[in-house]
Amino acid sequence: MDRELINVYDYERSARARVDPSAWDYFMSGAWDEITLRANRTAFDRIRLWPRVLMDASASDRATTVLGTPIAAPILVAPMAYQMLAHPEGELAMARGAGAAGTALVVSTLATTSLEDVAAAAAGPLWFQLYIFKERQVSAALVRRAEVAGYRALVLTVDAPRIGRRERDEHNHFVLPPHLLMRNFVDVGLEHMDVSVAGSGLAAHATARFDDALTWEALEWLRGLTRLPVIVKGILAPEDAALAVEHGAAAVIVSNHGGRQLDGVPATIEALPAVVRAVAGRCDVYLDGGIRRGTDVVKALALGARAVLVGRPALWGLAVAGDEGVLQVLNLLRAELDMAMALCGRPTLASLDAELLQDPATVPAHA
Ligand SMILES: Cc1cc2nc3c(=O)[nH]c(=O)nc-3n(C[C@H](O)[C@H](O)[C@H](O)COP(=O)(O)O)c2cc1C
Repeated sequence: MDRELINVYDYERSARARVDPSAWDYFMSGAWDEITLRANRTAFDRIRLWPRVLMDASASDRATTVLGTPIAAPILVAPMAYQMLAHPEGELAMARGAGAAGTALVVSTLATTSLEDVAAAAAGPLWFQLYIFKERQVSAALVRRAEVAGYRALVLTVDAPRIGRRERDEHNHFVLPPHLLMRNFVDVGLEHMDVSVAGSGLAAHATARFDDALTWEALEWLRGLTRLPVIVKGILAPEDAALAVEHGAAAVIVSNHGGRQLDGVPATIEALPAVVRAVAGRCDVYLDGGIRRGTDVVKALALGARAVLVGRPALWGLAVAGDEGVLQVLNLLRAELDMAMALCGRPTLASLDAELLQDPATVPAHA
């Protein structure tokens, strides 16, 4: 029998026992030596909090807005492909769970359910994540469909001109089982992953389809296609954050794709401060990668993120109990955030600032 599930790691353990080992490796792996995957966690663990006391810890409203959309807490769900590998109801259950938690969900281009079916099931706001294909009209058609279906923003992923080499997937010859399809591509006949390839079927699919010649022109092209706000996901360099703003991004997501793309890049929490400085309030900055505790959310907000996205923990919830599991994971992270803020002496999201992380011994005394 499962022991009581009281934190995201309990969900991880319980999910592992339910998911096929090759799918589990796909969910969990990072690229090459997984240095960045580990760094996303260790960098959070290294940061110390310097709480203040007697600050009235009675408040518990953690609601905020992202691009004008109200959400119950600054914790969204990151886009993740192939969710029916985690649970038979896949993206549908993810959308119900995120909506029940009062937050926004980013739906992957590579979903195993069509974007229309996800929208029909959803109980909350949806954003659509886009990979731009070599055949641009295929991506343009997805944008139009996302608009019609009521998605509120597009999330352009820019850190994956090629899919990072996840060696566990190579060893496993990771492919989608035949009953699972990339449902957004049924109308153009691209719904099947090629199962005849030697290594990772996902890597082969991406090499064949993703446009690896993209430049900032792609962002202009996308903005010309749609009135939806465009969020750029996969920013680490402050220079790129500034370029994203100049090319009209409505927000940037500081992300290293959960350590799954270029191994050896910084943890996202290390990259965040310079990005926040470069953006200088001109658009929202969000962060994903390694968020496992409410204190991680506190640290990201203290360093200037408006909100964070969680990836794998939401999948663990999905695998354990479908929409209910997603809701539970999001609720427990929100409860941890609530508790952490109260104990930090920071009654509101706006009061989470860099002083919370500042070692008083290293701060020069004021004259
Ligand atoms: C199984 C899996 C599938 C993913 N699929 C996508 C995807 O289709 N598009 C995308 O932009 N990011 C994708 N990502 C990256 C996530 O959006 C996010 O950046 C990352 O998972 C955050 O790190 P975390 O899992 O440590 O929370 C995927 C991540 C995982 C774990």
